[in-house]
Amino acid sequence: MLIDTFGRVATDLRVSLTDRCNLRCTYCMPEEGLQWLAKPELLTDDEIVRLVHIAVTELGVEEVRFTGGEPLLRPGLVSVVERCASLEPRPRLSLTTNGIGLERTATALRDAGLDRVNVSLDTLDPEVFQRMTRRKRHADVLRGLAAARTAGLTPVKVNAVLMPGLNDAEAPDLLAWALENDYELRFIEQMPLDAQHGWKREGMITAGDILASLRTRFTLTAEGEDERGSAPAERWLVDGGPQRVGVIASVTRPFCRACDRTRLTADGQVRTCLFATEESDLRGAMRSGADDATVAGLWRTAMWGKKAGAGIDDPSFIQPDRPMSAIGG
Ligand code: 5AD
Ligand code: SF4
Repeated sequence: MLIDTFGRVATDLRVSLTDRCNLRCTYCMPEEGLQWLAKPELLTDDEIVRLVHIAVTELGVEEVRFTGGEPLLRPGLVSVVERCASLEPRPRLSLTTNGIGLERTATALRDAGLDRVNVSLDTLDPEVFQRMTRRKRHADVLRGLAAARTAGLTPVKVNAVLMPGLNDAEAPDLLAWALENDYELRFIEQMPLDAQHGWKREGMITAGDILASLRTRFTLTAEGEDERGSAPAERWLVDGGPQRVGVIASVTRPFCRACDRTRLTADGQVRTCLFATEESDLRGAMRSGADDATVAGLWRTAMWGKKAGAGIDDPSFIQPDRPMSAIGG
């Protein structure tokens, strides 16, 4: 079990498969991209499967989410999914992706055992998309989403970040579109995780702003605390339901108290939190011959030291050294 000194138990593992990406979202990366990890630094497919195996057989992990960077850029993705799906006990498997290339791989991923996808899409306007991601790939994302739905990778969730002056007026349009297409939309408050350290609390679009904007067109009814559980998204029924919209208020209403996550970076470091300032090196341990029990022990020790919360809204908050694309979303 991965338990910490506050009694939280981590059962949800996020694994970053690469720090690279084919988009350049302004809230994530600079135009020129980043200094990518060199291939030898990345976990190999075998090392990833070994760590997931340890997590599910020895540490109580029940859910594995593959992230990046952009995980679809990882050549071995389908086979990694397939190998993780054959573990006992079988973890639930999902993928957080920007959707580019999903059109081609959705069916293979489903056949390999992937259960669900989360696709990032911030706007319905191809020009705004280009301004926000610095790439002309809006149509690819829409096709990827449709392919995921057809392949049965459902519920297909869509993650949207609102940026002042760019897409902040689009919340109701995004929701109307998601309802029509049977995607479950979740808005994520912009977090200070961009490599350029450009995040500013002032002007940030808050959960309160998002809800007020949605309520100009929809009736939203809150779901109870009970149903939220450890899920970071607070959810609202839209116009009486059954469809819902979620808001992940990581800044203004953090969910650290109920956090059930543990993370692996693409270079095999355990992180207790997106905002952790320390990492524990499982790749090094594996490469110097540690057995499964030793690796599990290092992972447990790392999680035991998990801090109470990130406190983004606190004046003493320090942004982590590594950006989100390196940590895994
Ligand atoms: N703040 C909030 N969300 C972010 N994402 C990436 N960077 C940030 C940030 N700084 C989102 C992506 C993706 C999800 C994994 O996290 O858009 O949907
Ligand atoms: Fe790529 Fe996701 Fe970062 Fe956008 S937010 S640049 S899609 S890793």
